[in-house]
Amino acid sequence: MNRITIANKQFEIFLDKDMIQKRIRLLGVQLNVDYEGKRPLIVGVLNGSFLFMADLVKELNINCEIAFMRLQSYEGTKTTGKIKELIGLPENIKGRDIIIVEDIVDTGLTISHILKTIREQQPSSVTVCSLLLKPMALKHEVPELGYVGFEIPDDFVVGYGLDYDGLGRNSNDIYKAV
Ligand code: IMP
Repeated sequence: MNRITIANKQFEIFLDKDMIQKRIRLLGVQLNVDYEGKRPLIVGVLNGSFLFMADLVKELNINCEIAFMRLQSYEGTKTTGKIKELIGLPENIKGRDIIIVEDIVDTGLTISHILKTIREQQPSSVTVCSLLLKPMALKHEVPELGYVGFEIPDDFVVGYGLDYDGLGRNSNDIYKAV
């Protein structure tokens, strides 16, 4: 399917299943080399990373532990603005090697918040593995961004875990808005 409609919005094919899976295999090879002999804790950020996380960890042959966390946004006071709270961040990550798995880094705000909270718990190392990165949209530096599947233009994308208005996460392919 080259074009799909989600909630009255048109999308066209951008990254197909084969391209995504091929890239994930390469990311897996890289992680296997970089974490050989270690025992990283791989933390998927829900909901968007659920398919990427599943496919990525199947490529790993190192000893690794898996966890998931989720962000909850709510309006805070006028001075603090929007506050994001981490739900389910594993305890006792002190001294651990952490790999955070994200679907997309857009402005970098979300991942910066996650990193700040994780750093406070003094892990041995933290790196971010994001399937997608929009370099043109980036507003917050993310030095921990060690692994990126695809750098993409500043377009809205959907599929393979990413949603538009709650829909489209179940697609094997990634589409962009037309
Ligand atoms: P950031 O905080 O601006 O980096 O945005 C990160 C979050 O915004 C991601 O985890 C997604 O949930 C969402 N997001 C950003 N860009 C897109 C997109 O193109 N499609 C779907 N969700 C997106």
